Amino acid sequence: MTILVDDAVDRRVRSVSVIPGRQRWEVGPVLGRKRTAEQLGAWLRSQPGVLSARASSISGRLLITHDPALGSREVAGLVRHAVGEVAEDVQPAVVPASRGAGVGSLARKWWWRGLAPKQVGGLSITYGIGAAALVVRGLLQFPTVRLAAVVAATGVIVYRGWRRSRARQLGTGARSPVKGGLRTILGRHRRAFWIAVAMSALGQLLYLTPLLVIGWMLAVLTRGPTSLLAGLGLAGASSQLWFLSGLTLVAYLGYALVSYATTIRWRDLANTIEHEWRGKVYAVVQRGSLGSLERERTTRLADLLTTDIAQLGRVLSGSAGTIVEIGVTAVVLIGSFLFWAPHLAWIALLPAPAIAAASFYYQERVAPGHAEGGETRRQLTSQLTNNLEASATVKSFGAEDFEIERIERLSQAYRAANHRIDVETTRYSHAVQVFSMSALIGVLLFGGSSVLAGTLSLETYNGLISLPTFLLLRLPEVGSAVEDYERTLAALGRVLELLELPVEPSGTGRPIDVATLQREIVLDGVTFAYPGRAPALRNVSMRLRGRKTTGLVGATGAGKTTVAKLLLRLHEVQSGRVLLDGADIRELRLEDLRRCIGFVAQDAFLFDGSVEDNIRYGTFDAGRDDVMRAARLAEAAAFIEAMPDQYDSMVGERGVALSGGQRQRLSLARAIVKDAPILVLDEATSAVDNETEASIQRALTEFARDRTLVLIAHRLSTIRHADWIYVMGAGGEIVEEGTHVELLARAGVYASLWRLQVGDGERD
Ligand SMILES: Nc1ncnc2c1ncn2[C@@H]1O[C@H](COP(=O)(O)OP(=O)(O)OP(=O)(O)O)[C@@H](O)[C@H]1O
Ligand SMILES: [Mg+2]
Repeated sequence: MTILVDDAVDRRVRSVSVIPGRQRWEVGPVLGRKRTAEQLGAWLRSQPGVLSARASSISGRLLITHDPALGSREVAGLVRHAVGEVAEDVQPAVVPASRGAGVGSLARKWWWRGLAPKQVGGLSITYGIGAAALVVRGLLQFPTVRLAAVVAATGVIVYRGWRRSRARQLGTGARSPVKGGLRTILGRHRRAFWIAVAMSALGQLLYLTPLLVIGWMLAVLTRGPTSLLAGLGLAGASSQLWFLSGLTLVAYLGYALVSYATTIRWRDLANTIEHEWRGKVYAVVQRGSLGSLERERTTRLADLLTTDIAQLGRVLSGSAGTIVEIGVTAVVLIGSFLFWAPHLAWIALLPAPAIAAASFYYQERVAPGHAEGGETRRQLTSQLTNNLEASATVKSFGAEDFEIERIERLSQAYRAANHRIDVETTRYSHAVQVFSMSALIGVLLFGGSSVLAGTLSLETYNGLISLPTFLLLRLPEVGSAVEDYERTLAALGRVLELLELPVEPSGTGRPIDVATLQREIVLDGVTFAYPGRAPALRNVSMRLRGRKTTGLVGATGAGKTTVAKLLLRLHEVQSGRVLLDGADIRELRLEDLRRCIGFVAQDAFLFDGSVEDNIRYGTFDAGRDDVMRAARLAEAAAFIEAMPDQYDSMVGERGVALSGGQRQRLSLARAIVKDAPILVLDEATSAVDNETEASIQRALTEFARDRTLVLIAHRLSTIRHADWIYVMGAGGEIVEEGTHVELLARAGVYASLWRLQVGDGERD
């Protein structure tokens, strides 16, 4: 005799109504179990004092009539106990009680001792676990349940791995996960994507077909012609062999064709998507305001435009097809086993959860390694590039050994990171092979036994035997595909963030008519500060008179270049206004404004190309004559013509093949070709000798006759002939203004600068 003491059962057995001699109960454990319901009724009826007892497996209800002498509590104890007895195979955790005790005394004993189920909670848990184990064991006797358990376990592991992978990616600085990431990446190419998916699936089906055919073939060889093919009119073993070989050939040829087309299609889709995203993102970056671009690190932007964008395509050319192929293999595998050998299906898939878990475990182990490897690689490349560019500096400071050692250290770190990845990868791939082999052995053994027992045909056995390995060996790719997808979503997050950069207005504002332009610029109480800095300009007002030359001088860092940038609206003023012919430049069309101003920047950039390309940059329709004329005005013609390839000579990266003064003169020629009504030269001749500068000035006087010219310079000889000169102080304000003569007469900042530069001997 045993006593049932379980919370769980107690909860599932509930009294519905109690009247003297008759009780109704709700008994969860009999619901849906006809046999248990019958056993419960029989057990209760066998007890003294019980007149009738009937349990229904449909409603889960129990009706019991009893001798009124039997107390209702005793009946309750009886019912609970009975449930424990009959449901023992389902919920077996019971404790021994004194054997042979009558039911009445048993019930009394319960209540007499006040043994409420709660007081034996520990035992209840034991009972619950044991019961659950029994249920599971019972259920697992069905092969389909086993298969479902294996599939469910794999699913849970993949899901959890995916969640962890996502959390990891979020930790790398990506913003919140992008919803509908794949859809966003695909954009208008969704249809092409689904076609590629279908093609991948078809290819994989063709790839797997011969496996089943080969099974047949082996059976024909060992046991003679099969009846199935005989039905097609192929009676002899030889003709069946020919047919099956032909079928295999056709399937593989079909596979080769489809696979070729599929690979091309995925790659094309990936390249197209990559190309379109790069175009879209680059356009935003290029049109981004200078302020927002300066805030971003160039290396970060470049990394985003190359690595992150490439990742958007790579997920399609790599992981998408893989996932489709593995999915199709899984469906074929499960389907074939369910159809031909359902009792073996679960064995075939048994290692799947372990492989999936190992796969994610591996990804988690190598992810930091990859991150570290990537970081060390970036450091190494950046250092290498730097050193190569700075070779003159390195040599002049005798720092060769220092640099060799520095590169050695970085290279060593890179080697170590790669080694760690290699160890993990090798360990993991061998583990996967062992897992996969265990499935093969399981199918060999259990399948072989079935063949011996006559419950499985040899053809089927042969056909099915290698299928699991095909799936299991590729299962690890799921882990990397998931990781790849998450990495893609993180990259997409960064890309989308970049797309939100403020861009400059385009096509809006009032157009500027150059023909009627008076070419006068006025700064009206302008204050401007770079983000997080003290103001570079404080309440600056100046007038750059139309068709006249204005000079701008001042201490280094006074804000002269900043003034030039504000004229071009490369930055927006924070207070005050910049006016062109009396109109606030914010109301004018930005493209027109910049077309009106020729600008030679202090650090003008030369592109890696020919001299002519560089001069023509921005005025792409200029002819060779225009280029040559500009070069003459900028005093560049002589040195260009002395070069071996003249105007076709290459200037090197950033113009390294030219001297500083030559670079400046090419930049000046570039601004001259632009032929703009306003010309702003920021230290445009600071690197050329005085004589050459004087020639340039003579040429420019003619060129600037009808233009507004703004000369920014430290060398006062550059601006002494200007119609008006502004002197800026270190605090970003105007300290003096006037003509050269007037400023000298004031004996202020300008006059002392002049004395410093020309020496006391020359006063004017
Ligand atoms: N992009 C920037 N971000 C932050 N601060 C800047 C930036 N450009 C310039 N500044 C700061 O603004 C101030 C004015 O710089 P600006 O380049 O206008 O000086 P400048 O008069 O042209 O000097 P120089 O004669 O050396 O060319 C300086 O203090 C400088 O450090
Ligand atoms: Mg400057």
